Amino acid sequence: YESIQVGELAKAMGVKASDIIKKFMELGTMVTINQSIDPETAAIVAAEFGYEVEQAAIEEEQLLEYTPPSPEELKPRPPVVTVMGHVDHGKTTLLDAIRETDVVSKEAGGITQHIGAYKVKLKDGQEITFIDTPGHEAFTHMRARGAQVTDIVVLVVAADDGVMDQTKEAIDHARAAGVPIVVAINKIDKPEANPERVKSELAELGLVPEDWGGDTLYAEISAKKKIGIDDLLELILLQAEMLELKAAPDRPARGRIVESRLDKGRGPVATVIIQEGTLKEGDPFVAGITYGRVRAMLDERGRRLKKAGPATPVEILGFHEVPQAGDDFIVMPDEQKARKVAEYRARKQREAEAAKETKISLDKLFEKL
Ligand code: GTP
Ligand code: MG
Repeated sequence: YESIQVGELAKAMGVKASDIIKKFMELGTMVTINQSIDPETAAIVAAEFGYEVEQAAIEEEQLLEYTPPSPEELKPRPPVVTVMGHVDHGKTTLLDAIRETDVVSKEAGGITQHIGAYKVKLKDGQEITFIDTPGHEAFTHMRARGAQVTDIVVLVVAADDGVMDQTKEAIDHARAAGVPIVVAINKIDKPEANPERVKSELAELGLVPEDWGGDTLYAEISAKKKIGIDDLLELILLQAEMLELKAAPDRPARGRIVESRLDKGRGPVATVIIQEGTLKEGDPFVAGITYGRVRAMLDERGRRLKKAGPATPVEILGFHEVPQAGDDFIVMPDEQKARKVAEYRARKQREAEAAKETKISLDKLFEKL
């Protein structure tokens, strides 16, 4: 390692430079803030502050190392679908209508607890995972963090209203994320519905229907009257088939936080979409800058699950703190290692923030000069 300046060391550890200089004095050395010190000395001083600097960092990077699965490990998995569209065009109504086609919910009936994602099992046993809440903000947030949770976007456009601002935004988001769009022209039960107009508006934006010679799949539906829902589900499965979605089920789980909150009685709770591997009760994990152990796993109806494979959304209890939507979720060998990684990440985040603040205050200083 190279030598480091006292000031840099202070910043790296998130402590005041004056405190470090004081520590040096206690150890019998006088240093200035700009003075370079060798790595051994830096480590000794850092250890005084409870840091095992470089060594720890290396270990934590290693803990996070990821080997992609080999082709033999991969098995087909259900698609993860996000429903997007302009305000009031019928996203929630559509999700409710779809949920009713779920064979399981028909039997279960009763109260359905709200969670941000659910998986439906269709009559022929095929499954689709739907993400409910991510409005545009959450979607953008996740995309910004390099998260690819969604395989397909279902774009809901009301047949009486046509293409609106958020319709265009949704198209932009899906394109930027490289996610194919299936169009659901909704509210065709309304007398003023004009699906042909919607098609031509969308075709102008590049979503050319198949029967017009393009490659975008369209369904005409009424979420309220439950018309065309099965057709839409067919199209989603068709689109999914083209994507040949696969994941390795037999390894420690990795996933993504899609929703989180602090529950009064149960503490931090988050909905995670498993993207790879199988999550089990008791698994230790790191999620963003927090960590924990899976205390309980619940499906969207609040039923306890023992394990959850790829493309399954689960509500998880057992976080130390509330994670953020878009955070990664990685199962670790044990809770101590999970904690180490979380603390390491938190420290790096603090450093980055401190560096940003320093830059801002320097910029301000230069403005005055
Ligand atoms: P936001 O979450 O606010 O963006 O709205 P949304 O897209 O989820 O729309 P929502 O499902 O809440 O529906 C808005 C209104 O349109 C409600 O009054 C629904 O009853 C109505 N609606 C939804 N689908 C249909 C439909 O197929 N036909 C008719 N006639 N009305 C519908
Ligand atoms: Mg809604």
